Amino acid sequence: MNIIITGASKGIGYETAKEFAKIPNNKIISISRDYKRLLNLKDECKKNNLKSEIYPIKYDFNELNIQEQLLPQILKYFCKIDILINNAGMLIYKPFEETEINEAIQMFNVNFFSASELIRVLLPFFTDDSHKHIINISSMGGFQGSVKFKGLSYYSASKAAIANLTECLSEEYKDKNISFNCLSLGSVQTEMFNKAFPGAKASLNLNETAKFIVEFAINGNKYFNGKVLPVSVSTP
Ligand SMILES: NC(=O)c1ccc[n+]([C@@H]2O[C@H](COP(=O)([O-])OP(=O)(O)OC[C@H]3O[C@@H](n4cnc5c(N)ncnc54)[C@H](OP(=O)(O)O)[C@@H]3O)[C@@H](O)[C@H]2O)c1
Repeated sequence: MNIIITGASKGIGYETAKEFAKIPNNKIISISRDYKRLLNLKDECKKNNLKSEIYPIKYDFNELNIQEQLLPQILKYFCKIDILINNAGMLIYKPFEETEINEAIQMFNVNFFSASELIRVLLPFFTDDSHKHIINISSMGGFQGSVKFKGLSYYSASKAAIANLTECLSEEYKDKNISFNCLSLGSVQTEMFNKAFPGAKASLNLNETAKFIVEFAINGNKYFNGKVLPVSVSTP
């Protein structure tokens, strides 16, 4: 399958790309700002599976010129897309009143507009014979009715926005048989989590979460469309 995963230089995206690369015949485009880390990912994937095909692309989602700058780079590798995982995320942990509008805009750019624009630009490449699963990675903080945390207002609001967009797009594109789903993750031990909650222990295991995302990307669209699914072992 042809897979695109954003935010693959570290954390959940890195591990998820690694898991996809273990499966024969998968081609994976990995995107982030840190090209060196993406090359490390490629090396690690090759160690696990010599035949793995993983194509790193350096891109900053704050730029939001996806049509002009990112699309041509993607099309160098493939023109049919089976799975898109919008995983790139940014969190600035600050009280609401201290968060400057530019910081809020950056979070919305990376967490919401980059994903929405990437979907818009890539929709024509989900062809009749493709697997057609688009997954947006959200957070329990953006899940309606969940426990909320101080210092995460804009981050959580941007994650709520992408969850809602998922529901809307599944309706808007139901005639095209594309499945849009949103995974609202609980805490996972990554750089992002460690920076926001120093010393805290996350409830989800990084590698297990990556395996779950891969399994969900491959099979979840048979059972779910337009769903915002809480992936969390803590309550509520
Ligand atoms: N960890 C958790 O507890 C948790 C919980 C709920 C949801 N999530 C969500 O899961 C996703 C992955 O999070 P993580 O914990 O793995 O975070 P992470 O370790 O901080 O990784 C974030 C990824 O996003 C990329 N990214 C950030 N800003 C970018 C930009 N401007 N342009 C391109 N790429 C950018 C980073 O790449 P570069 O820095 O190389 O650009 C990195 O690959 C995020 O959407 C996050 O909100 C995480």
